[in-house]
Amino acid sequence: MSAQKDAASCLAVILAAGEGTRMKSARPKVLHEVAGRSLVGHALKSAEAAGLGRAVVVIGPDRPDVAKEVTRLVPEAEVVEQRERCGTAHAVLQAERAIGVGHKAIVVLFGDTPLVRPETIRALAEAVQQGKTAVAVMGFQAKDPTGYGRLIMDGTDLIGIREHKDASEKERAITLCNGGLMALRGDLALGLLKSVQSKNAQNEFYLTDCVGLACARGLAARVIEVPEEEALGVNDRVQLAACEAVLQNRLREQHMRNGVTLIAPETVFFSTDTVIGRDVLIEPNCVFGPGVTIADNAVIHAFSHLEGAKVAAGANVGPFARLRPGANLGEGAKVGNFVEVKNADLGAGAKVSHLTYLGDATIGAEANIGAGTITCNYDGFRKFRTEIGAGAFVGSNSSLVAPVTIGEGAFVGSGSVVTKNVPPNALAVARGHQVTKEGWANSFRARPENQAKKKPSR
Ligand code: UD1
Ligand code: MG
Repeated sequence: MSAQKDAASCLAVILAAGEGTRMKSARPKVLHEVAGRSLVGHALKSAEAAGLGRAVVVIGPDRPDVAKEVTRLVPEAEVVEQRERCGTAHAVLQAERAIGVGHKAIVVLFGDTPLVRPETIRALAEAVQQGKTAVAVMGFQAKDPTGYGRLIMDGTDLIGIREHKDASEKERAITLCNGGLMALRGDLALGLLKSVQSKNAQNEFYLTDCVGLACARGLAARVIEVPEEEALGVNDRVQLAACEAVLQNRLREQHMRNGVTLIAPETVFFSTDTVIGRDVLIEPNCVFGPGVTIADNAVIHAFSHLEGAKVAAGANVGPFARLRPGANLGEGAKVGNFVEVKNADLGAGAKVSHLTYLGDATIGAEANIGAGTITCNYDGFRKFRTEIGAGAFVGSNSSLVAPVTIGEGAFVGSGSVVTKNVPPNALAVARGHQVTKEGWANSFRARPENQAKKKPSR
């Protein structure tokens, strides 16, 4: 059977019941985000990318927001509650029903460790599907091991994990630590988990005790070592920022290796789900929020902010452009400086070059939207659409009061406030007529009340 199929018969159990006190936040810790995705979302998506067939997420009591986020990202994932926080083994046992179904491996992930790579998850799952390895643990060499569980080795065999609070001075000198990720052989998982006792410094049921319990039964445990960076967990906002930095560097490198030019990579911020084609050029200081897709040969100029937007091949964005959710740019379209686009489709070759707001609109191919055009899409209660036909020309400083349609090839005179539909190929001018009074300024200055102010005449 292929490795991928083996992985599909594995179960991920994601622990996310922690309180996250050190975040000092009204929001549950696992809903804080790095690279545009919640912490629990990273765990879920990494398990999915590793090919694990099913996921159960263990959440704290009364956390409908966490459950909602889990279901939003992976609708098939199961959510179970841990009513009391009695330790990591107790948390895993909340998924007893799913574990009991029978899987090749149970992989336990922490909801607050977003840098774990899918390859590592797969390696752990594979390790317990071979021979007599019952437990596989993700280990790392810690620069400062304080607080971590220490991996007790006998040669190359892992024989136990000692939590920091329970460790002797000698054990505390060990720098090989438990990164939290653990795989248990599917047929042994429940037996091991149920044997865990809580006689320790924290009176908790430690998942880490599974290692010693397996060894006592003559089964083997092993360590899969990863760089410390991969095991980095989030307990406070300083660590949140540290994880963000690591992820951003990974994403920048990944995009550059895929054929994207970043002039100043350290100033560009991606989301985990950003999709970018080949030969795209991204200038400095751009931010890509969730849900952005950029096709080949597009250019994103400096200081642009994109979120939930699709940019077709060869389109040109910025500098200083803002593409909000639902912005959909056709091939070769241009969105220039100080232009905001939201929930709007721009046809191929359409141009919106300066100082414009397009919201809830459809712009036809090759249309030209002049500087300062505003789609007035909101009456304080409801949103309305503006439809602009292909090849239309909207003069500068026009307000298009939706719902309104500008027909194909039509012109709108500068400074118009358009409230009625404009037929194809028509000209609409909707502004006051210009009045010019020759010599008016001189007679104004000559008025007695203005003379007192003694402004020199011209
Ligand atoms: C845990 C490991 C430790 C390892 C460290 C790595 C245990 C006993 N210890 O310690 O060996 O070095 O992670 O970061 O596993 N959780 C629940 N319910 C509970 C308890 C915890 O859902 O009852 C969740 C937490 O939300 C968190 C994860 O399990 O996502 C780990 O719990 P945490 O309290 O952070 O364990 P550590 O003391 O860091
Ligand atoms: Mg922790």
